[in-house]
Amino acid sequence: MDATSSHRLLVTGGAGFIGSIFIRHILREFPHWHVLCFDALTYAGNLHNLDDVNSHPHFQFTRGDVTDSTKVAQVFSNFLPDVVVHFAAETHVDRGIKDPEPFLRTNILGTQILLDAARRNAISRFIHISTDEVYGTVPAPASCTETAPLTPTNNYAASKAAGDMLAQVAWTTWKTPVIILRSTNNYGSHQFPEKLIPLMISRALANQPLPVYGSGLQMRSWIHVRDFCTAIVTVLLYGTSGEIYNVGTDDCLTNLQIIETILHILDAPINSIQHVADRPGHDQRYALNWQKIAALGWKPRISLADGLRETIQWYCSHPHWLEQPATAHHCHFDTNK
Ligand SMILES: NC(=O)c1ccc[n+]([C@@H]2O[C@H](COP(=O)([O-])OP(=O)(O)OC[C@H]3O[C@@H](n4cnc5c(N)ncnc54)[C@H](O)[C@@H]3O)[C@@H](O)[C@H]2O)c1
Repeated sequence: MDATSSHRLLVTGGAGFIGSIFIRHILREFPHWHVLCFDALTYAGNLHNLDDVNSHPHFQFTRGDVTDSTKVAQVFSNFLPDVVVHFAAETHVDRGIKDPEPFLRTNILGTQILLDAARRNAISRFIHISTDEVYGTVPAPASCTETAPLTPTNNYAASKAAGDMLAQVAWTTWKTPVIILRSTNNYGSHQFPEKLIPLMISRALANQPLPVYGSGLQMRSWIHVRDFCTAIVTVLLYGTSGEIYNVGTDDCLTNLQIIETILHILDAPINSIQHVADRPGHDQRYALNWQKIAALGWKPRISLADGLRETIQWYCSHPHWLEQPATAHHCHFDTNK
């Protein structure tokens, strides 16, 4: 794909955390590209995430569900995308444990419907956004390359793994030009406050206890969402169809360490941490080998120290963000994503 040509990107789930930041990134870096955000606006989608691009002449929004094949077909025939970037998903592990059905519908059926629509239309790239969770827990000191077996341990991860497999099938059967990205934990502004970092910030700011699943020694690596956006652009421009690329960083911390770092930056008391019963099936460690995307010239540029400070500053200056209604009663917290 050529960066200088004009492209038309259909971005599903673009009103969520990563999708909205990706859209902003594209409209800023590639002003000659066009973007249509297709989003069902579930509890996790928020049109205000796109306030600053809403009147951009190359941006449009259509509300719709990726499981609605009629609506998806309409969007393809009206907008005529040559690129699909598929973020739309149910993403919260705890919700998937309580109620798997929406996860199976959106993450599996919705992915198949989009792949079918892409096959019927002239698509040059289909970027399927996936997660390191599909590999399941990885014993230290190993890390997963893209050929590691998929051993998901929760409904979210299993539904994402199924979506990945369907995307691979679309490539092997129809040569739909699919690329799969498996990313580690993202953090940054605009993340729904049921997720670890915004939830812990909100608790600390409200002087509430910070609940930690089990020992808190689960190991995760963290990527700033803007670094993930540059990884997506890298594979859009230079990736190979049919391939999978892991996207990671070397910023690996236990959940306890990340919470302690947040408390340190906020100058909040460490004794506000409260251990609670562990999540069933909680993966102890995720670890990606991301040399394959590094060989395309990509690397993360934002250090965890800088990124976390910037992120905390953003939540402190957007207190309304931390008061979204769907947060409190659903999941008491999530130590993952
Ligand atoms: N956040 C992370 O740390 C992380 C890490 C790795 C991979 N991912 C993947 O990245 C993608 C985006 O994650 P996020 O954290 O931005 O999610 P999010 O929960 O913040 O946003 C999801 C978006 O998808 C929309 N959506 C949900 N169901 C839909 C449907 N049926 N039809 C249309 N739109 C629908 C929601 O309205 C929302 O705008 C997901 O595919 C997720 O699996 C996320």
